[in-house]
Amino acid sequence: MINSESYQAKEFNLSGLNGISDRTLEMHFKLYEGYVSNTNTLTEKIAELLFDGRVDQEEMPAYSELTRRLGFEYNGMVLHEYYFGNMKKGSTTTDPEKTSGFFGAAEESFGSYDIWKADFVSVGKMRGVGWAVCYQNPSNGRLSNHWITLHEVGNVAGFVPVLVLDVWEHAFLLDYKPADRPRYIEAFFSNIDWAACEQRLRQGVQARPAAAADSK
Ligand SMILES: [Fe+2]
Repeated sequence: MINSESYQAKEFNLSGLNGISDRTLEMHFKLYEGYVSNTNTLTEKIAELLFDGRVDQEEMPAYSELTRRLGFEYNGMVLHEYYFGNMKKGSTTTDPEKTSGFFGAAEESFGSYDIWKADFVSVGKMRGVGWAVCYQNPSNGRLSNHWITLHEVGNVAGFVPVLVLDVWEHAFLLDYKPADRPRYIEAFFSNIDWAACEQRLRQGVQARPAAAADSK
């Protein structure tokens, strides 16, 4: 059975963030739990259609819709885990240490950390519903920032998400006006768990030798 294990919602202890209220977080955790349960439901429904080992012509429309929706729900689940996982309460800084791997990778990739930040923040301010994601390319260690439409359009295959920012309006509308997204992004930076980002970078770096060996 490929679908014998369902996903469980993870717990995040973030109450007391700077500029992102507990009310917002509670509502946001509920939305996240919805993505987890929809991922499980869709996975089960697709498995039911596949149970007889084939997708019949009359099953194809339902199968197609379920599979498209799975991409939306699955990425919604995973991106929220990255987002909640790269914040922490009690942060007193907005930027990583100058000696950190992230700072160095940003400088190498963009010329300076400030230019990396200007790019990431600008991606976050883009109009529309989605995410700003800083990825590391595991084959060369470079960072790049990307806009994700909804949850599933624009994710870069095989890249490691290092810093993930939710810019759907539900992430900040209880605390800020829609036009005040820049203030929410500023608040987000004052809550970033840079140690979590370092951990993701280290995992990305570990993937590099295998990628290099594959290209020989
Ligand atoms: Fe969200």
